[in-house]
Amino acid sequence: EKGGYEHFMIKEIYEQPKAIRETMTGRLSKDDSTVLFDELKWTKEEAAAIKKIVITACGTAYHAGIVGKYYLEQLARLPVEVDIASEFRYRSPLVDSSTLAIVISQSGETSDTLAALKEAKRLGARTLAITNVVGSSIAREADQVIYTWAGPEIAVASTKAYTTQLVSLCLLALYIAKLRGAIDQAALQKIIRGLKNLPEQAHEILEDVEPIKTFATQYGFNEDVFFIGRSLDYAVALEGSLKLKEISYIHAEAYAAGELKHGTLALIIEGVPVIALATQTDVYEKTISNIQEVKARDAVIIGLGFKGDKNLQKYVDHAIFIPATEKHLAPILAVIPLQLLAYYAAVTRGCDVDKPRNLAKSVTVE
Ligand code: M6R
Repeated sequence: EKGGYEHFMIKEIYEQPKAIRETMTGRLSKDDSTVLFDELKWTKEEAAAIKKIVITACGTAYHAGIVGKYYLEQLARLPVEVDIASEFRYRSPLVDSSTLAIVISQSGETSDTLAALKEAKRLGARTLAITNVVGSSIAREADQVIYTWAGPEIAVASTKAYTTQLVSLCLLALYIAKLRGAIDQAALQKIIRGLKNLPEQAHEILEDVEPIKTFATQYGFNEDVFFIGRSLDYAVALEGSLKLKEISYIHAEAYAAGELKHGTLALIIEGVPVIALATQTDVYEKTISNIQEVKARDAVIIGLGFKGDKNLQKYVDHAIFIPATEKHLAPILAVIPLQLLAYYAAVTRGCDVDKPRNLAKSVTVE
């Protein structure tokens, strides 16, 4: 059932090119001009009626939601709040009939996410679920559903669910953007072409994992690791850090790179590994200055950037390169080396990769 792989997690990491392709199947027009969602079929009026979006989820799905906020705000130009489901329910959120409430859940059974969905519905919001499990409780409760079609995810650590959630959120943002006239056709087409290249590019990353394995064995016994990045790189840093702590039990923290000097820099000392993501060109120079800040404290820096970025190598101790893509799509590729890093670190430390201590695949209690 593991198809020759040692663990479900690594099998599922390797299934990502296929899973990403499945998420897009039937949802892009042949001429790359439009996103099609037969399951939504919104009118322009319906799209125009939305005044605000709230996204609620837990764990990895919450991290996907943070990326979704960037997508929906930047592409569809709608204000978006992202909340952890267990917080949303109890904070008396400002939600009404002009709100679109999106919940994200791989399993579709997470009790806090389901309760957040019910709460949003009770307050009159339109609800939309992004989930991987057909007929799950969340799928049944929501007004509309976008399935991620990632196939079953068995490992406790979520991998292909995350990347397919990002693809779904990007498609949704483009769909709403077009209906609301918030995006011009050329920009839309560019992202659609970028989306179509993702399966092949993800495959390319998975073909050469040796350098990542080496870092994992080299740094796998460190007790603290930091992840830094700005903008969408920060969102991915959060997910990379969760993956590492969840399965390898290494204390990992993600920081918005510009926030380091407001406290956390005190923890950066000689030899501490810092994974620095630098795929977002509009904040690239700023990220480089933050890399220099940690370098000055003798941290060991593993930079993650786009292939062809010769500059990055000058500032980091090691570099991981991913194929170049649109800035919005970078998270979908950038997370893959981080998943692999977590996986190989856990293997190095002899951890139970598929069933980390204290955790369950589906959290159906509060
Ligand atoms: O099934 P869900 O997407 O609702 O699950 C949410 C979280 O419990 C889940 O993403 C969790 O954080 C993963 N173990 C992370 O790898």
